[in-house]
Amino acid sequence: MALSVRARRLAPSLLSADFADLAGAIRAAEAGGADAFHLDVMDGHFVPNLSFGPDLVRAVRARTRLPLDIHLMIERPARYVAAFAKAGGDTLVFHLEAEDDPAEVVRAVHGLGVKVGAALKPATPFERVAPLLDRVDQVLVMSVEPGFSGQRFIPGVLPKVRAARSALDALGSAADVSIDGGVTPETARPAAEAGATFFVCGNSVFAGGRVDENLLALRRAVTVGVPS
Ligand code: DX5
Ligand code: ZN
Repeated sequence: MALSVRARRLAPSLLSADFADLAGAIRAAEAGGADAFHLDVMDGHFVPNLSFGPDLVRAVRARTRLPLDIHLMIERPARYVAAFAKAGGDTLVFHLEAEDDPAEVVRAVHGLGVKVGAALKPATPFERVAPLLDRVDQVLVMSVEPGFSGQRFIPGVLPKVRAARSALDALGSAADVSIDGGVTPETARPAAEAGATFFVCGNSVFAGGRVDENLLALRRAVTVGVPS
C-alpha cells in the first residue's frame, strides 16, 4: 500500500482542437479541469506532418496560466529550444531519436530555466533513456507513431512505462512518466496502472462530445481504483 497518492495529470493536446478557435478549446479544457496543455510541434522531417512553431505557443501562453508541455517532433531540436522557452513553454520534450547528444540538450534546456522531457517512439527501447533518468523532469512514452492525432493505442509500450517508473522510483526521482497517443478512458487506465502520471489526450478530449465530460471520464479512469 503506497503511503502517498501520486498526482496524475491530464494534458489535452491542442493538435486535436479546432485551430480556428483555440481560445475556446483552452477555455473548455480549463473549465473541465485540465492540468496542462500539450502542444505538438512537427517539422515534416522527423515526422511526416507539419503543425506549428513558437508563435502559436506564444499565442496560447497569452490565453492560459496552465503549464505548457511542448512536444518537439523535430530533427535536431537543440536549434529551437531557446525559441520555445522564450515563447512560454514550461517543459520542452525532445525525441531521443532526433539528437546525437541528448545529455547536451538536457543541459541546454535546463540552462534556459525550463523543464525537460525525453521522448521515445514506440520502437525505441527503454535503454535509450536510462542514462538520462537522473536529470530529466519527464519521460514521454509514445503509444502511437508520432505525427498524427486519432491513432490507436499500442499496448506493447506499457512495459516501457513500467520500466521507466520503477527506474525513476529507484533513483528517488519525482519525474513524470507521460503517455502520448491513443489515450482514452479505456487505455489510460492500464497506463496509470503501469505507472504513467501524465496523460496526453487529443481526440478523446476534443473530437466529440463535451470537453468537460470527456475530461471527467479520463479523470475517473486514471484515479478511481488505481493504486497510487
Ligand atoms: C501525436 C502527438 C499526440 C497527439 C495525440 O504525434 O504526439 O500528442 O496529438 O492525439 P490522440 O490522443 O488523438 O492520439
Ligand atoms: Zn504529443
